[in-house]
Amino acid sequence: MNECSIDIVAVPDHPGVRWWQAVASHGFVAGVAGLRPTRSLGHDLLLPAATARTTDAAELTLYVEPQWRRRGIGSRLLAAALAQTAEPRLIAHVAADSPGEAFCLWHDFRHTRSLRHDLLTYCNVHHAWLGELVDAEHPGYRLTHWTGDLPAELRVEELLRSPSRPGDAVLTAADADGDLAAYAVAVVGAPARPRARQYGPAVLPGHRGRRLGRWVNAALIQQLRDVHPHLEEIETVTAEDDSHLLALREDLGFGLLRRTRRYEFTLRQHTRPAATRGEDAR
Ligand SMILES: CC(C)(COP(=O)(O)OP(=O)(O)OC[C@H]1O[C@@H](n2cnc3c(N)ncnc32)[C@H](O)[C@@H]1OP(=O)(O)O)[C@@H](O)C(=O)NCCC(=O)NCCS
Repeated sequence: MNECSIDIVAVPDHPGVRWWQAVASHGFVAGVAGLRPTRSLGHDLLLPAATARTTDAAELTLYVEPQWRRRGIGSRLLAAALAQTAEPRLIAHVAADSPGEAFCLWHDFRHTRSLRHDLLTYCNVHHAWLGELVDAEHPGYRLTHWTGDLPAELRVEELLRSPSRPGDAVLTAADADGDLAAYAVAVVGAPARPRARQYGPAVLPGHRGRRLGRWVNAALIQQLRDVHPHLEEIETVTAEDDSHLLALREDLGFGLLRRTRRYEFTLRQHTRPAATRGEDAR
């Protein structure tokens, strides 16, 4: 491995994502960095990047091949991304206690959230019990479902009014006389992938304390399997300090998969010049 031959090059033609590669001799790609806009829906619900309105932050993806690490390549890729980004904040999600976390701390990223990923496996779901949860009365509320592909501009109320069609998302909601009260969304990965990603449930202010979150979530688990029978499991992400939601997940049968941490970098803040760490890899 000739460390002197590393070049950081921008990779064009990735719609919505900016990519850089660390290219070694013979064109070997030793590492990559990517930036994509992050999205938010309001309602305090984490949603996939392809949906909902854009925020002022970009999500950073950074990866260096294990045999090329600790030579400043990650820092050089980060410097390239920082030089090009228009957003004032970068967000990175890293495994807890990992090299990625050490890297973020060294570059003065700020820890903003600890996240827990949980998994529900359909073979462990007691379907009669799930059916009872879904069928339980919630006076004044009714359940509705929508399926389709999530649009770029997502408004839950509008989706529920539009006709269902084939697609990779299932949305389950509870409303009171047409007033949205709670909802949860799941998105299926590439066709034939056995795992869906669930977002929520979110219960809107004014409707809390009525077990609507548990209700819509149970209904989503049931509906999702009806629409996508090949699914075997559902993954969720929850803030470690959200004890209420974590208890709900456990109650429904989700179990710990892994822990990650969210780090944030504000571009205006003082930082070590990231590129200096890469001098040995030029
Ligand atoms: C995180 C990652 C991109 C770092 O790449 P890298 O090329 O090794 O990073 P650098 O050489 O520029 O490291 C810069 C500094 O970060 C810190 N650091 C990086 N890896 C570390 C580790 N395993 N342990 C402790 N500190 C570490 C060190 O302070 C290092 O400086 P030093 O080598 O002079 O001590 C790489 O480990 C990786 O691909 N990890 C898996 C993916 C990942 O976690 N990505 C998220 C990053 S936001």
